[in-house]
Amino acid sequence: MPLPSFSPGRRDFLAAGAAAAALPFLSGNADADSLASLGARKGIRFGSTIGTGHLADQAYLALNAAQCALIVPENEMKWGATRPDVRSFDFSRADAIVAWATAHRIGVRGHTLLWHSERWMPGWLATYDFGPQPRVEAARLLTEHVSTVARRYAPVVDSFDVVNEAVDPDTGLLRETAISRHLGAEETIDLAFRTARQAAPKAELVYNDYMGWRADEARHRDAVLRLLERLKARGTPIDALGVQSHLGSKYSDSPTGLGALDERAWRTFLDRVTGMGLRLLVTEMDVHDNPLPGDIARRDRMVANHTRAYLDLMLSYPALHTVMCWGLSDRYTWLNGSRPRPDGMAKRPCPFDADLSPKPMRDAIADAFRAASPRAA
Ligand code: G3I
Repeated sequence: MPLPSFSPGRRDFLAAGAAAAALPFLSGNADADSLASLGARKGIRFGSTIGTGHLADQAYLALNAAQCALIVPENEMKWGATRPDVRSFDFSRADAIVAWATAHRIGVRGHTLLWHSERWMPGWLATYDFGPQPRVEAARLLTEHVSTVARRYAPVVDSFDVVNEAVDPDTGLLRETAISRHLGAEETIDLAFRTARQAAPKAELVYNDYMGWRADEARHRDAVLRLLERLKARGTPIDALGVQSHLGSKYSDSPTGLGALDERAWRTFLDRVTGMGLRLLVTEMDVHDNPLPGDIARRDRMVANHTRAYLDLMLSYPALHTVMCWGLSDRYTWLNGSRPRPDGMAKRPCPFDADLSPKPMRDAIADAFRAASPRAA
């Protein structure tokens, strides 16, 4: 198996990455009132996601550079982007984003070393012939992938989503993939974490999922909790839970708009998670606003209020040290392409609007940071 070739720019971004790592909370670009600065004052890293399609948009990049201490490639470190086939790796897209971040002294998160869901793994994997010893080949393939990607970015990335979305929220069972069919789901998840620890010994290793605070998410919360308990009991090297925080309900048309919440159950969940010694990250925050009224001022206010209430609760946990949006501007949100609003209006799930002007949601995040107690160093 030939090792992937490194791009010529790699040395540059690794050197710049080391410098950025010395300033974990602030990029060189943030002014005193930026979300990065407001978060930094409380020991919270604020950031967002950048995708290949954003790299040509100078105004959007400038907004990210001004507001973020941290970015995460939206799709470019996933198997789907880095593995054109079983033999090769393609890091060109991920490298371009990492190079931009490090040139601006912005930290980088890694997402994701294993998306434990057949639907989001590359098509070739579903039909791959694992040969006469499929268990051995599945372990080899997973180990090779995780160690190659984690090693490559370890000098820059200090926090990896090692495993993403392993739990089926409808059944509470672990999903099955081409790899786990041969290796077993628990073994697959364990192997991913163990390999990541070896390849990036200093990085924070995260399990990332989208269980949330709505009343209808009890099964998902419970199943994730059980998974984390099993991982801890087995000594699997996991450091934190990534709470994606795609807020709002995709389906609800309730008058409050964003679904019935169960704050008590959510706090119980977070208490149990942090009680295991795990840190917390908000990794992908946005607000799905389909059920909210069309009127923009009203809708923005409801999104902001929801965000503020959510962040106040989350930031009451000192174990929470990172808050990431899944896109800073409504110009690019992934939600635009998924489930359009019934009234045909554009969605407004992000802290800045499509013209890159700040919205009430941006103030809600800022105010939540101002109100938060400082995290321990
Ligand atoms: O790049 C191709 C383009 O060449 C092609 O013409 C186009 C046609 O569909 O597809 C483009 O790829 C799309 C890619 O986003 C880039 O825009 C894929 O189809 C699309 O499936 C992919 O969606 C991403 C999704 O994850 C699946 O990987 C979203 O952008 C991304 O925001 C979303 O992110 C996930 C997190 O990783 C995990 N948590 C949930 C979150 C939201 O779903």
